[in-house]
Order: sequence, then C-alpha cells, then structure tokens
Amino acid sequence: MKKILTLENVCAGYGDVPIVNGIDMFVAEKEIVTIAGTNGAGKSTLIKAVMGLLPKLTGRIELNGASLQDQPVRRRVFQGIGYVPQVNNVFGTLTVMENLQVVEAVDDRKAMIDRMLSLFPVLAERRRTQAENLSGGERQQLAFARALMSKPSLMLLDEPSAALSPALTEQVFDEVKKLPRLGVAVLMVEQRARQALEFSDRGYILDSGRIVLADAAQSLLQNQEMADLYIGRSGARSGRS
Ligand SMILES: Nc1ncnc2c1ncn2[C@@H]1O[C@H](COP(=O)(O)OP(=O)(O)OP(=O)(O)O)[C@@H](O)[C@H]1O
Ligand SMILES: [Mg+2]
Repeated sequence: MKKILTLENVCAGYGDVPIVNGIDMFVAEKEIVTIAGTNGAGKSTLIKAVMGLLPKLTGRIELNGASLQDQPVRRRVFQGIGYVPQVNNVFGTLTVMENLQVVEAVDDRKAMIDRMLSLFPVLAERRRTQAENLSGGERQQLAFARALMSKPSLMLLDEPSAALSPALTEQVFDEVKKLPRLGVAVLMVEQRARQALEFSDRGYILDSGRIVLADAAQSLLQNQEMADLYIGRSGARSGRS
C-alpha cells in the first residue's frame, strides 16, 4: 500500500490559536477516506490545510513522500491535488464549457474537456448553460469535472452532498465511487457520514480539532457509540441537526 498523503502532527488555524491540533492521518493510493465529526470540529480547516490555504501551520504534510511545506496552492494543484470546496466551486456566470476552459494546470485541454464531457454526459448536454442555472447535482458534477481536469492523484472533497436532495446525493456519491478506478484517491468530509462510510475504505472522526478515532470504514459503522455521537444510526439519515 503506497501512501499518497501523509499528515504528521499537523496544527493549523486562522490566527494564533490552532483549530486543528496534532493531526496524524494518511490516504493511500486509490483509497476513499471519509472524515466525519461534529459541526465546527475543524474538518474544513483540515482540508484547507492540505490545500495550502491556511496562514498558520506546524507539523508535516507530504504528498508522495515530498513535503508540501511552503508550496503555494497552485503548485499543489500541479503536483496532483484536486480540491472541490463546499461552496463557490464553479463560476456561476460562465457556461459549463467556459468553466472547463478556464481551469489552470491542464496539459491537453481539448482532450481533457472531451474526456470530462463523456465522463459526465449531463455536462455535455448542458455545455452552453450558465453554471448558475444548473441543478445542485449538475453543478457538483461540474465542480468535480473542473477538479479532474488537472489529472489529480488525490481529490479533496468538502461535503460534496451539502444542500443536495437524497436523490442528487446518490448521484454525486456515484461519481465519488468512480474516482479510485480513474486512479484518484479521495479524502472527503461528509455530514452524511453513514452513507459515505458505506463506500469508503477508512474513516477518521474529528472532534474539537483532534482525531478521536481512526478505523476501517466497516468497523466505524459497527461502532455503536461512535454511531450515536458522530455517524448516525442506520435507517435514520444522518444530517445536520
Ligand atoms: N476563516 C476563519 N477564520 C477564523 N476562524 C474560522 C474560520 N473558518 C472557520 N473558523 C473556525 O474554525 C472552527 C472550525 O471550523 P471548520 O469550518 O473547520 O469546521 P467544520 O468541522 O468544517 O464544521 P462544519 O461541519 O460546520 O462544516 C470553527 O470554530 C470556526 O469558527
Ligand atoms: Mg466544514
């Protein structure tokens, strides 16, 4: 098992007080790893730290064995990290095609756009539609396609199902499930933790900026105490309360 991403004792935040504290974590090749936790636990902050979006960081973050220290966001994209933020992940006033055309760090743009349009047929149908007029699920697929354009080996997804109906959530999760087959590992934050863990390899549970449990996804799902606190019970849909 080859590790793509490794975090060692990462502390990060926005000011002098760290929001995430002493995080040890890894993602191996072609794995889907889900981060669950309460609101405000620091999940988005952790994802932003990996992407290089935070001013204050100590500890070590490595991509394929090389430190990301002092690498600006753009370099991290070139090195193979794709990022789909929770909000503002497409340009609303641009069409679907234009959204794909403006992505940076793309080798063979025309071929990659063709590939994305065949991977996401709904985008091909809607290629001349302005992104702000897409449905939530279509917009999320466009955000994915944008992130895939630069051929990432690791995709960071911050709540891909947020604000989506159960049906659209299924649709977006189906796209996430395909990523390992495309050679892309996934580190994903999800409120719908039970649903996400069902197709994940491993999971981490974050509380107050610390990892309280790291385990195989199936073991987390069977952990009654964790389910009650962080994951949600089967049958009941987990979501924001
Ligand atoms: N830009 C910011 N500046 C200062 N503090 C921030 C900023 N963004 C988030 N925080 C604080 O960091 C803490 C963790 O926030 P974060 O967004 O990482 O939580 P989260 O686990 O993603 O929560 P949620 O499930 O609600 O998305 C919160 O206390 C929040 O107030
Ligand atoms: Mg968040």
